[in-house]
Order: sequence, then C-alpha cells, then structure tokens
Amino acid sequence: MTHEQWTEVDNYVVGLLTPSDAVLDAALVDSDAAGLPPINVAPNQGKFLEILAASHRARRILEIGTLGGYSTIWLARALPDDGCLVSLELEPGHAEVARKNIERAGFANLVEVRVGPAVQTLQSLVDSKVEPFDLVFIDADKEGYPQYLQFSLALSRQGTLIVADNVVRDGEVMNPSSTDERVQGVRAFLALAASDARLEGTVVQTVGSKGYDGFGIFLVK
Ligand code: SAH
Ligand code: DHB
Ligand code: MG
Repeated sequence: MTHEQWTEVDNYVVGLLTPSDAVLDAALVDSDAAGLPPINVAPNQGKFLEILAASHRARRILEIGTLGGYSTIWLARALPDDGCLVSLELEPGHAEVARKNIERAGFANLVEVRVGPAVQTLQSLVDSKVEPFDLVFIDADKEGYPQYLQFSLALSRQGTLIVADNVVRDGEVMNPSSTDERVQGVRAFLALAASDARLEGTVVQTVGSKGYDGFGIFLVK
C-alpha cells in the first residue's frame, strides 16, 4: 500500500468517526498561520490518545512537546473537571500559539504550558515533589527520549501509562547503524524501557496521513 492509500483510509475513518471539529480545525489553521510545522498527531491518533486517557481515568497528564496544543486538546478532553494537564514546550512562540488554541478549546483552566528545555522543567517538577502523573505523553525532540523516560518514571506511580510518539520512524528504528540522531534517540529509549524492571509495554506500528511510524506504550508496574 502507498502513503496515498493510507491517507485516504485515514480521511475515511476520521470523516466517519471524528467528523469536523471546529476547535481542533482552528488550532491547526492558526498553528499553520503562525508558521509552526505540521508535525501534530493525526486526528485518529489524537482520538486514540483521548481514549487511552479516558479509559485510564487519567486525572493528571504530563505532555512533553506541546507545539500548537493539538494533541494537548485531545488529551484534555479526557480529563474530569478537576483534572490537570502540564505540557512542556521549548519554543516560546509555539507555547503562545498553543495557549490561545487551548483557551479557545475551553481548557485554559485545566492546562498549563511551561516554556523551556523539557529536561529543566522536568527537573523542577521532580524538585517540587508534584503529585505523580497518571499518563505521560512523550513527543518532543527524539534525542531527548531516554532522559524523558527517566524523568517520566520519577514522576510516575504504579499504574502510570507512558506513551511515546514516533518510535518507528519509517522502520529505521531497527537499524542499529543509523546515523540519524533521532533514530538513535528512540532506539536508546526502547532499550532503556526494555531493561527497566519497573516497565512493561510494547510498540504499536501505525500508518496513515502522517506516514509510517508508531507509538511506544508502557505501564509502570
Ligand atoms: N505533541 C504535539 C507535537 C509536538 S512536536 C502534537 O501532536 O500536537 C515537538 C515539539 O517539541 C515542538 O513544538 C518542539 O519545539 C518541542 N521541543 C523540541 N525540543 C524540546 C525540548 N528540549 N524541550 C521541550 N520541547 C521541545
Ligand atoms: C517530527 C516530530 C514529531 O513529533 C512528529 O510526530 C513528526 C515529525 C519532527 O521533528 O520532524
Ligand atoms: Mg510526534
């Protein structure tokens, strides 16, 4: 099958099951207008994240990599009224676009976007001894994934779900001699997850409008 067919099937299932959504569409239009790259999750992947968070009854969600807040809005839809989502973003310009998108979606009261290198923000969350998160979504720079996994564990409890985007990378994840730092980042992330006795999980490969990639999904034992 070709990328074109994957995209047509995505359009079909999205049209059928998650038809046009003014708030999410506006988030993408305004992200594009502000020059943000179109590297948000696909709509069916966003719905998948929402379903994961809802079925897990997540009350506290941590996201690493906000961009324009598109995945943030999907995840926030799973939260109860007293839930919270902390999303970490390096670029102040991305965070500014995201905050507007999140506010329009009605989640300004539940979502906090924190600007800075995620490693620094994660360290400050650990230092301030915040309550553990119920779900972590890792989707920032792929080189940072191993560190983000360590921090996610430090901010987790038994039963926390850790989900990581883009861990298959057109199948390059299985190439040990890849010179792509992002491939080496996700390889180190998966090796670390495999070697950590606190984690069990797997990788689900995906195809669609965003190409051939996959989610890592881990449960903290
Ligand atoms: N989760 C978003 C997409 C995130 S794209 C969605 O699906 O809608 C990755 C984001 O991570 C970009 O906005 C990028 O600026 C940010 N990023 C890159 N390096 C980072 C770092 N060191 N710390 C925090 N964010 C980072
Ligand atoms: C990129 C990052 C992502 O999180 C993604 O889903 C797709 C692409 C990137 O950095 O190119
Ligand atoms: Mg991603």
